[in-house]
Amino acid sequence: MNNTIYYDSRASDDERRLALYEGQLFVFSPRASVLDFVKFARSMIEESFGDLNPRTAQDQMDVERYAELLGKLKPMFIHHPESKRYLQAILEDLGCDLELTYFDVPRLRTSTSNGYLTTGIAYAWHAHRDTWYSAPPSQINWWLPIYELDSENAMAFHPGYWNKSVANSSAGYNYYTWNRFHRGEGVTKLTKEDNRPLPRATEPIKLDPQIRLICPVGGIILFSAAQMHSSVPNTSGLTRFSIDFRTIHRGDAVAKKGAANLDAACTGTVLRDFLRGTDSARLPDDVISLYDDGTPVDGDLIYTPESA
Ligand SMILES: [Fe+2]
Repeated sequence: MNNTIYYDSRASDDERRLALYEGQLFVFSPRASVLDFVKFARSMIEESFGDLNPRTAQDQMDVERYAELLGKLKPMFIHHPESKRYLQAILEDLGCDLELTYFDVPRLRTSTSNGYLTTGIAYAWHAHRDTWYSAPPSQINWWLPIYELDSENAMAFHPGYWNKSVANSSAGYNYYTWNRFHRGEGVTKLTKEDNRPLPRATEPIKLDPQIRLICPVGGIILFSAAQMHSSVPNTSGLTRFSIDFRTIHRGDAVAKKGAANLDAACTGTVLRDFLRGTDSARLPDDVISLYDDGTPVDGDLIYTPESA
């Protein structure tokens, strides 16, 4: 049963992963390793926006120019070698075994206020599970705010769907095809509408009851890839900036541990994107082959964010 939010849990990473696979949430108070990453992210963001306050820059820029700016800033952050170093420090700080823990590159996210830009490069996420997007059941998502969060610009969990399958369009999603056709520079042009075939519920979703975890800057939230979650419609007046990245434990991937799959029917796997905590080596082929579903590969196996 999913019913617990653990604050500053002292559980080991093994215990924590098992609880996450059961739908529990973990949140940690501000800690130095996360604050270091935040400081680094802020310096990159603030440099990009120049004289403007990044949280209110949307009020002073036309949306095309804003999307262009994010289109440069985001890949620059993702690619930056320092980003990986900060991420590894967080994993180590929170008790992960870096030999067995694999991560993907950290993403910088923005949620603009009052519907300024909710498509393409600043997509406002409808309720979804990451497992509808080719994440394995053992994937864990890590999420942290870069500026103070507000209930009105946070992320929401929809725990009522943990044990409940939802009709959805994930069967039409293949990760490799997605990498080929829907990534890249074109995303910055989607400033008015966004008709990318993103998997979504095909039946009405009850967004309430929902949980919005508001942690201070320097805090971090962990949740399973099978958790139903969405972007809160931002009415705070301020753009939210956050970072998220994902981890997979090799032992769990091999043992096929993880959250139960109730309703994901997508094909392909994101496993090739993951890098070992110690030396950024990819997962061995024999592990990935456990998740290959035999679908034809019509695209790029690995997500390669375009260089800024
Ligand atoms: Fe997600």
